[in-house]
Amino acid sequence: MEFTIDRTAVVANAVRTMLDSIDEQRAAEGYIHLFGVAKCCVLLAKKRGLDCELAYIMGLLHDYSYYLTGDREEHARKSGDMILPLLAKTELFVICEMGTIAKAIASHSDKNKTDGNPYDELLKDGDVLDRMLMSPGSEQKEIHKARAEKLTQELF
Ligand SMILES: [Fe+2]
Repeated sequence: MEFTIDRTAVVANAVRTMLDSIDEQRAAEGYIHLFGVAKCCVLLAKKRGLDCELAYIMGLLHDYSYYLTGDREEHARKSGDMILPLLAKTELFVICEMGTIAKAIASHSDKNKTDGNPYDELLKDGDVLDRMLMSPGSEQKEIHKARAEKLTQELF
């Protein structure tokens, strides 16, 4: 009998463990935002012909450092660094998959740059799309506006 390991479930469990260890209010926001961005990334990956599993996982982990520490300063780069040992410990990912995930996470705050690879752009867009869907009536941050307009054209 062959077993298939659900890598998204393994990573989701690690994220739940982290969120369950922090301040209750930040954890509540984290559950909504991290799982929301993960789903937005899958939607965009399907549309763009990218790997939905990697998309989901990068969405789940993208703000890991911020939620763990409460510190937003350089949280993208710090999250990219933090999630490498976490993924390596699962022994479920090859080096290039971990590199793709970590690189997209490390650059996801650069919303005004559009020269990243498709996964870098996917994660930035997934982060913005989650904000668009969570606060449909409110104005987007200045740095997100161009991306939000492009997403509206792509999806709606
Ligand atoms: Fe985010």
